[in-house]
Amino acid sequence: MTISEFSSLPVHSKVTVKGWVKNWRSSGKIFFAELRDGSGYIQAIATKKDVTPEVYETLQKITIESSVIVEGTLELHPKKNEYELHVSSVQLLQQSPEYPVGKKNHGPDFLLNHRHLWLRTPRQWAIQRVRHHIQLATAEFFNAEGFTRIDSPILTPSACEGTTELFSVPYFDETAYLSQSGQLYLEAAIMSFGKVYDFGPVFRAEKSKTRRHLTEFWMMDAEMAFYEHAENIALQEKLICEIISSVLNKCEQELSILERDISALEKVKSPFPRLTHSEAVKKLRTLGSDIGERDDLGADDETLLTKQYDTPIFIEKYPAEVKAFYMKPDPEDTSRVLNSDLLAPEGYGEIIGGSQREDDYSALVKKIDDHALPQEAFSWYCDLRKYGSVPHSGFGYGLERITAWLCGIPHIRETIPFPRMINRLQP
Ligand code: 4AD
Ligand code: MG
Repeated sequence: MTISEFSSLPVHSKVTVKGWVKNWRSSGKIFFAELRDGSGYIQAIATKKDVTPEVYETLQKITIESSVIVEGTLELHPKKNEYELHVSSVQLLQQSPEYPVGKKNHGPDFLLNHRHLWLRTPRQWAIQRVRHHIQLATAEFFNAEGFTRIDSPILTPSACEGTTELFSVPYFDETAYLSQSGQLYLEAAIMSFGKVYDFGPVFRAEKSKTRRHLTEFWMMDAEMAFYEHAENIALQEKLICEIISSVLNKCEQELSILERDISALEKVKSPFPRLTHSEAVKKLRTLGSDIGERDDLGADDETLLTKQYDTPIFIEKYPAEVKAFYMKPDPEDTSRVLNSDLLAPEGYGEIIGGSQREDDYSALVKKIDDHALPQEAFSWYCDLRKYGSVPHSGFGYGLERITAWLCGIPHIRETIPFPRMINRLQP
């Protein structure tokens, strides 16, 4: 049994903890250690007069992050409504030398250089647990909605989201590019499976040094045959609400370690406000932004706008020229596209990008030319518009952005186990 399961046991139960020492203190006569085993935390206590001299001697050798196997009984903590472990025996597997990630306030560079050790701290533990539950809730949601998970390739022959952000790698006598999104492959898969999603690492050679950008991050792409713009938006809303309620249900301890203001998450209820890009620009100008009528929203604009709302907001129908080649024009104004970006509240920025896709062969071929993309590389993608083309839509979320928002942490570098940024490939 692991620590997280102890609360289901009766008092006085005999248990074994296999884990690490998070912290310890001793008064000479009484010894306390905070133990962790990956599932949770428990305080262990040993009184000199109640344990054998050998046990008490071993306890004196314990240091922070030593690995141990501790046996004892579960007794009620005198002050808190939880168990503590009354030690009967202890095995010191390895005595750790002084742990580099200590109680001092380290700077971000030091911590990132020691990421392999920093991951053990409660805050980092809590963040990765929330990330795990977001992925789990996503898989459960799509399974219940009748989706099939289709894994898309990482080595690809062409760009999905703009050629300036591509990582290239030598591929025998050709050049391959690391995938920016599995979307194009999912568009092929919907013609076989109807509704599909993928989940995997994607890569952007972005020179952006912001708290919202990584060069390697995890994206979930969803794609649905016969879904139009409005249905695409409704599905995104439903997914986000499910993820939030699942994290609120299952990550109580994690959110409390992170001191997350839960009430901010509880306020997120559908339907989310929807603004067209033109409405957003008008509103931004009244708020003091100098954004142009057909400009993309910058990070500052997103923050300014989302501060006005408690829930995420959709911004839809952007000018075609600031968005990707595959988006379908809005029939009411063909200079704009049937897309939407979902912006999170509290300044977390864009968490989802989605759109209805161009499903007409000739229009798509022209779009590829207009964007100066190589036709040969996309001929398979255009084929999908030749053989049983249907209206279809999809979207992709950035796992790290959603994790940062739900955890309430300012920088997404802490939301991925081993972050990759412009200046960081280590450890
Ligand atoms: O908006 P993006 O670029 O959309 C696509 O890639 C579409 N092909 C997805 C689709 O329709 N299937 O990226 C989707 C999301 C963004 O909303 C953002 O949350 C995240 O991916 N994202 C990043 N996260 C971390 N670091 C970066 N450099 C990111 N770039 C995008
Ligand atoms: Mg986007």
